[in-house]
Amino acid sequence: MKVVVTGAGGQLGRDLLDTFADHQVVGLSRKELDVSDEAAVAATVATLGPELVVNAAAWTDVDACEGDPVRAHQVNALGPWWLARACQGIGATLVTVSTEHVFDDPGPRDGDGALRGWTEFDPPRPANSYGRSKAAGEQLVRQTLPAHHIVRTSWVAGARGRNFVTAILDAARRRDHLEVVEDEFGAPTVTRDLATAIREVAVSGRFGTWHRTATGWISRLEQARAIIELAGLDVEVRPIRAAELSRPARRPSWSVLDATHATAAGLTPLPDWRDGLSRLLEELGERASPSKPASPEAPGTSR
Ligand SMILES: NC(=O)c1ccc[n+]([C@@H]2O[C@H](COP(=O)([O-])OP(=O)(O)OC[C@H]3O[C@@H](n4cnc5c(N)ncnc54)[C@H](OP(=O)(O)O)[C@@H]3O)[C@@H](O)[C@H]2O)c1
Repeated sequence: MKVVVTGAGGQLGRDLLDTFADHQVVGLSRKELDVSDEAAVAATVATLGPELVVNAAAWTDVDACEGDPVRAHQVNALGPWWLARACQGIGATLVTVSTEHVFDDPGPRDGDGALRGWTEFDPPRPANSYGRSKAAGEQLVRQTLPAHHIVRTSWVAGARGRNFVTAILDAARRRDHLEVVEDEFGAPTVTRDLATAIREVAVSGRFGTWHRTATGWISRLEQARAIIELAGLDVEVRPIRAAELSRPARRPSWSVLDATHATAAGLTPLPDWRDGLSRLLEELGERASPSKPASPEAPGTSR
């Protein structure tokens, strides 16, 4: 199968190239294809003639998107739309990646009043400009191309990119203590596992919207402590509240995506977040002792 990956220079894009390496895969970085350029997208897709396009291109700087909603919309909404139109023209399937930022607080509750994860059937209510642009991109793909998969994920980290994991590792080496938010919850998802899940969805023929994150959920504070512990570092991590940070874009505090629909439909649940994190640290050369089993008392044990 001929596969085109856009945003191929990003952390997910790079792992997608590895995951589809047994296919005829063409990776296009932003320099090679700007997805917000309608004419370039149409010409490139028509020339390459793939059966599958996987869109990993996005403007992912959440705070910068808040200051420039037009650019955010051009990349994150119009980009997937131009790709969907180009795929429609040649009969190709499109996978485009989306985010938990299409949902805002308060999180949804079940009949007992307990918080539950967001499902694919909960109506989007974006938290910020980035989330609005991604939700618009989803909608434009849905209304343009029946042969689409929208894969929503959360808290992404890979070995070839800057992300929360690398930021914590860097900060832990420079400071005597860290302050991390205790009231934001989600599922840290590594790009290797996400790329595998995207491939499974892409060849499933089950078009539609899917929630694909690591299994389990934790707070950012617990995630930071797990990173420090697995890397064998000795730095105190103190809790702070999200409201104490002055960030241009508000984050949803409840970023947990429910996988019931995907599991019921036969898609493979992703590994537990801690397993993914452990493998990521190994790939980064940051795992303290890979043979040592994780402590059952460790903070951030999955739920
Ligand atoms: N990171 C997360 O925590 C997270 C969470 C949920 C969902 N997601 C979604 O997951 C997907 C992959 O994200 P990621 O973490 O791999 O992000 P990433 O590392 O920032 O990669 C995104 C890539 O897109 C490229 N790009 C930006 N504007 C572009 C344009 N106009 N045309 C073509 N390429 C463009 C970037 O290139 P430059 O670097 O050169 O700008 C970068 O290589 C995105 O759809 C994102 O919204 C991410």
